Amino acid sequence: MENFEVINPTRIVFGKDQLDRLPILLKDQNVKNILLVYGGGSVKKIGLLDKVLKKLVDFELTEFPGVEANPEYDTLIKGAELAKEKNIDFILAIGGGSVIDGVKFMSGAINYKGNPWDVLKRKEGCVFTSAVPFGTILTLPATGSEANSGAVISRKSLKAKLTMGGPLFFPVFSFCDPSLVASLPKRQLANGIIDAFMHTLEQYITYPTENLLQEREAEGILSTLIEVANVVDHPSDYKLASNLMHCATHALNGNLRCGVPTDWTTHMIGHELTALFDIDHARTLAIIAPRLWERKFTDKQEKLTQYGKRVWNLEGTNEEIAREAIQKTEMFFHGLGVSTKLSEYTSEFKGAEVIICDLFSERGWTQMGERKSIDLDDISAIIQSSF
Ligand code: NZQ
Ligand code: ZN
Repeated sequence: MENFEVINPTRIVFGKDQLDRLPILLKDQNVKNILLVYGGGSVKKIGLLDKVLKKLVDFELTEFPGVEANPEYDTLIKGAELAKEKNIDFILAIGGGSVIDGVKFMSGAINYKGNPWDVLKRKEGCVFTSAVPFGTILTLPATGSEANSGAVISRKSLKAKLTMGGPLFFPVFSFCDPSLVASLPKRQLANGIIDAFMHTLEQYITYPTENLLQEREAEGILSTLIEVANVVDHPSDYKLASNLMHCATHALNGNLRCGVPTDWTTHMIGHELTALFDIDHARTLAIIAPRLWERKFTDKQEKLTQYGKRVWNLEGTNEEIAREAIQKTEMFFHGLGVSTKLSEYTSEFKGAEVIICDLFSERGWTQMGERKSIDLDDISAIIQSSF
């Protein structure tokens, strides 16, 4: 087994009717002055904002609504300026991955002396060195952002979507209430299942490891997600919703990667497809992953076979099982109403491979994947085969 070191300080408060704990956890942190950040209004529509406000009567509050899906740099800068002006000592994110990611960025940008864009661009010497503490109330199980220290920030005017993170950006706490799943539209539920599924697969479809526990844990999450996928038609079913939420948090809380190789190429290409064509994050993953596994079939065959046998109960020769496992995954996505063809999302797909390869080349991402064997020719071929 490979060596590893892991830490995750985020307190997860899981379950329904847990909001009485909110003021207690905030007082534990000596919080006085809170910036309440949320998105385009779903938190109002589902009555969550009112419930939260009632719990926060003892604190000074400033609201910052309007964080977009794929949170926008310019909006977040305004939020950071407001937080500074109001002397905010804690930020509370209420929403899905976009609001939570946006809050992570704001928490670092608030006291940053330089240009926060340089941090996202990873300009030499430019890093956030402090972060205003924050907590989250999760409304959409998908990204795992509630339990990790990463974020992805978009800047539409530059067609950019960039990652950031580090130990400063773990939420202090996250409330994960599966009953909030009931209000989610089918599109977001399907997205959530696929995003969690792909987070698991990108820490799994590599090569066989000696970390038997991590492999079984990944297979457990995948099997559970398949088992509860009918939550898209029954979002009020608490058993289905709670398992989806539990899986999504576990898929990206740092546990699955302990002592195993990972391949995040699908996510890296996916982020660029969102930046170029505004396609939902999870859908970009559904477009790319099957094509990537086909392109790198030899590298990934052993793990695809293991996945096919253990998660899909397939039979046949190892190669047949590995190929069928790719098809099964694609059919699973189709069954959730998600197309795996780029051309079904945009008619302007031609040339996407050139733009993305140029960007990857600029960033030095020329040897990706668990074996560093995915080069720019592969990236280009994967994107073209997704048309
Ligand atoms: O803006 P509002 O009105 O709140 O509506 C949101 C939004 O339109 C709505 N929604 C959220 N909870 C709801 C709800 N509608 C009804 N009922 C509820 N309970 O859903 C829409 C999508 O929300 P969003 O937060 O954008 O979705 P998601 O959680 O999938 O987050 C996607 C973002 O996270 C990033 C993605 O790149 C993307 O920007 N990711 C973050 C990661 C991380 N930090 O670890 C990892 C992921 O791989 C991903 O890259
Ligand atoms: Zn993702």
